[in-house]
Amino acid sequence: MKDEFESKQGLGPEIGKRPRSLSRIWTAAVVVALYLTWIIKPFSSQSQFDRVQQCSIENFHKDLYFLENARPIEAQEFLDRRDNLAKALHVSGVDGFVLEPGYTFQYYANISQPQWEPWEPEERPFLMVVQPSVNASTGEVKAKTSFLSPHFEEGRVRMLGIPSEGELDIIVWEEHWNPYRTLKDGLFPDANATLMVDEEIRDFLVRGLDANGFKTVGLGGEVEAVRQTKTPAEVELLRAVNTGTIEGIRAMRPCLEAGLTENDVIKILDDTVKTIGFDLFFDIVLFDSNAALPHGGFATGDKVLTHETMVLIDAGYHYLGYSSDVCRSFFIDPPKKSLIRRLLRLPGPEINNSELHAEKLKVWDIVLQAQTEAGKMFMPNSTAASVDIAARKVIDDAGYKGTFTHRLGHGIGIKAHESPYLNKGNHETLLRPGMTFTAEPGIYLEGKFGVRHEDIYLVKENGPAEVISGRRAVSPYEP
Ligand SMILES: *[C@@H]1O[C@H](CO)[C@@H](O)[C@H](O)[C@H]1NC(C)=O
Ligand SMILES: *[C@@H]1O[C@H](CO)[C@@H](O)[C@H](O)[C@H]1NC(C)=O
Ligand SMILES: *[C@@H]1O[C@H](CO)[C@@H](O)[C@H](O)[C@H]1NC(C)=O
Ligand SMILES: *[C@@H]1O[C@H](CO)[C@@H](O)[C@H](O)[C@H]1NC(C)=O
Ligand SMILES: *[C@@H]1O[C@H](CO)[C@@H](O)[C@H](O)[C@H]1NC(C)=O
Repeated sequence: MKDEFESKQGLGPEIGKRPRSLSRIWTAAVVVALYLTWIIKPFSSQSQFDRVQQCSIENFHKDLYFLENARPIEAQEFLDRRDNLAKALHVSGVDGFVLEPGYTFQYYANISQPQWEPWEPEERPFLMVVQPSVNASTGEVKAKTSFLSPHFEEGRVRMLGIPSEGELDIIVWEEHWNPYRTLKDGLFPDANATLMVDEEIRDFLVRGLDANGFKTVGLGGEVEAVRQTKTPAEVELLRAVNTGTIEGIRAMRPCLEAGLTENDVIKILDDTVKTIGFDLFFDIVLFDSNAALPHGGFATGDKVLTHETMVLIDAGYHYLGYSSDVCRSFFIDPPKKSLIRRLLRLPGPEINNSELHAEKLKVWDIVLQAQTEAGKMFMPNSTAASVDIAARKVIDDAGYKGTFTHRLGHGIGIKAHESPYLNKGNHETLLRPGMTFTAEPGIYLEGKFGVRHEDIYLVKENGPAEVISGRRAVSPYEP
């Protein structure tokens, strides 16, 4: 090898002994330098990432208390939900509710769109129809549930495992038939039926119903309120997934080190929270000026973390069909005193008292205060607007008018964003016990930083709302 190298370099044996050994040292040095650059550098950044990730996962697993009361929704609850829907249809004077696989179908029948059609929503209608059925002697209203399915798919529909008392009632249509006529003849033979259609149903289906003897109306009123009002089992699942997501952020924070990028932090949080079976829905990590747009801008994820960075994390995961959507804004721990400083008994690194840092602390407190005031308005019969207005007043009064650029929050359940929506114009919607909402005020200062705190509130029958995402934030170092 050596001789080959020397001859390639034009160095022959005629060259003296001393220069030859020098060249060998030179070559060795270059090789070692290249090796170090090639191997050590990625290795050391890799090891920082691995170290932080391991620390985060270990911290997280110290206490998984939030999983204790989370149970999958039982079959009977799906039947109860359909009975509640039937009662709401009855008081609304509507003959039936029509939906196709999607979130609402998942809510009433435990089947989501991807479970029904893993490829794409197709042109053949597969519909669920719930009709109110009134017991003539007792007046009790129960759900009569039916499905409209292409004939060749009937077997597959039966295999979906849709919770039901006995066999599913399936009305089938052949490929050359009019499916809407089939539905009309099968379930609504003598009257002009009014059907309420789910908000997720596709337009051509509504047109098909309208053109074939049905009168359709959009989702609203008591029917919409059924899914908005959470059952105790749903509340426990929301509590588990939302508290768990915040605990994931909280477990990770003390492990984070300057030098990591936004993308690193995204991966560390995902890998931490996924270890307990949470599925990623979204994970937004924004440092300083990137967080000045609430959902980020054209951030590449490459911004680097420092001890002065205001970190904003807004994350959502799914667990047993329920969604989290929480946000925390924080600093990582100040730098530790180096060994030399400790040995020489020198003071630690200075705490940064820049004006910018002071403003971060101040804004953090204002946003928390805004959330506190909003929290007081989550009472039965408050308007959806009043909650937003309470938070906005705190931010406006503190001199940050115009920096809280979005609504205060939204309902949350199997979907991260559900109705009702908490914006200052929504005076029509009254809050009801059992409704669950995000409260997520924020202040966004372009070119500087953004702060948002987001927790989940459950409206109670009596007394103040309950925060079901665990402890609220305490300080930028205790998010
Ligand atoms: C609902 O669907 C999920 C996912 O397919 C399944 O694990 C669960 O057992 C179903 N629940 C019932 C009550 O059938
Ligand atoms: C109506 O309710 C009564 C009392 O619960 C019950 O015995 C009867 O079977 C019900 N009728 C129908 C049609 O379900
Ligand atoms: C259904 O509606 C049409 C058009 O409004 C009307 O002509 C017809 O009499 C109605 N039929 C019944 C059974 O109500
Ligand atoms: C303090 O923060 C400012 C603004 O973020 C920065 O420019 C400065 O370098 C920091 N000073 C120290 C000592 O870290
Ligand atoms: C809310 O308003 C409804 C309808 O006006 C009323 O029946 C109910 O008692 C109110 N609830 C509370 C907690 O005030």
